Amino acid sequence: MPNSKYIARARAHSNIAFIKYWGNRDDALRLPANSSLSMNLAALHSTTTVEWSEERSADSLTINDAEAGAAALERVRAHLNLLRERLGTSMFARVESSNNFPMGAGIASSASAFAALTLAAVAALGVEVPQRQLSTLARLGSGSASRSIPGGFVEWLAGDFHETSYAESIAEREHWDLVDIIAIVSRRHKRVGSSAGHRTADTSVLQSARVETVDERLRKVKGAIMNRDFSALAGIVEADSNLMHAVMMTSDPALFYWLPLSLAVMQAARRWRLEEGLRVCYTLDAGPNVHCICVAADAERVAGRLAALSPDIEIVRSGPGPGAFLLPRA
Ligand code: DP6
Repeated sequence: MPNSKYIARARAHSNIAFIKYWGNRDDALRLPANSSLSMNLAALHSTTTVEWSEERSADSLTINDAEAGAAALERVRAHLNLLRERLGTSMFARVESSNNFPMGAGIASSASAFAALTLAAVAALGVEVPQRQLSTLARLGSGSASRSIPGGFVEWLAGDFHETSYAESIAEREHWDLVDIIAIVSRRHKRVGSSAGHRTADTSVLQSARVETVDERLRKVKGAIMNRDFSALAGIVEADSNLMHAVMMTSDPALFYWLPLSLAVMQAARRWRLEEGLRVCYTLDAGPNVHCICVAADAERVAGRLAALSPDIEIVRSGPGPGAFLLPRA
């Protein structure tokens, strides 16, 4: 195969934020308004092959073996343009990506996709890049992708410019066997994606209050993780999710991601914790599905309760996952 030396295959896992990234100080560079913290998800990953070639005249993209749509191709092209610029190549790439989770279930995230794409694209060029720099490059494709480069529990330091805005592990995946039980309450595709949402964050009068107080929440969540202290973690994770959604709901245009069933799950999770002692709390991203974070010992009971709550809830379950890594070529 011609130019087969410029090929690599990488896998990256999705992540769920305990302290949310919402709003950028610089949209082009995706320099976030605040630092954030997440757990990689072992059960949800993207696997991506990148082959650069001097003979290509354009980039191409398949997702789950099908030709990608125009919007997905455009976003990947824009990211490849940034990588070409920063890595000093003019070659175009063939990109083949697949997800092990159902597309359109509302749990797909750009994090695993852009982390896997970045690692494969860099490795295919044969350049050695330290993890920190890889995280900054993934960030340019999708902010949350910076957090899918390191493994386990990860903090993305907001930083002041490109080189200082990167993510790093604060604890390995084995540190704490938390489980994310994702209650899928709707499979409909979100109408307003995160990238557009980030641009409206500053239109909410609540964004500055959220950002001014986030470092304190981050410090507490970090401490709770280091001490494996679920009761310290739960209230802050819920508060931080509520604050982000309060910003969304008070932005212009207002963004309402919750559905009635989302709220039912949130209220139930709180009740199970405060009244029955189950170690579970909720957090939601830019969509209606509810991530129920719990300790492994209580996961079975939480899954059972969710199933009993409504026949419309589907469940996906995941423990902490590794960072992005290279795979042998397919
Ligand atoms: C609500 O990383 O998806 O999930 O940088 O535009 O790709 P882009 O945004 P993205 O934003 C994630 C927002 C969030 C919270 C979080 O994961 O921290």
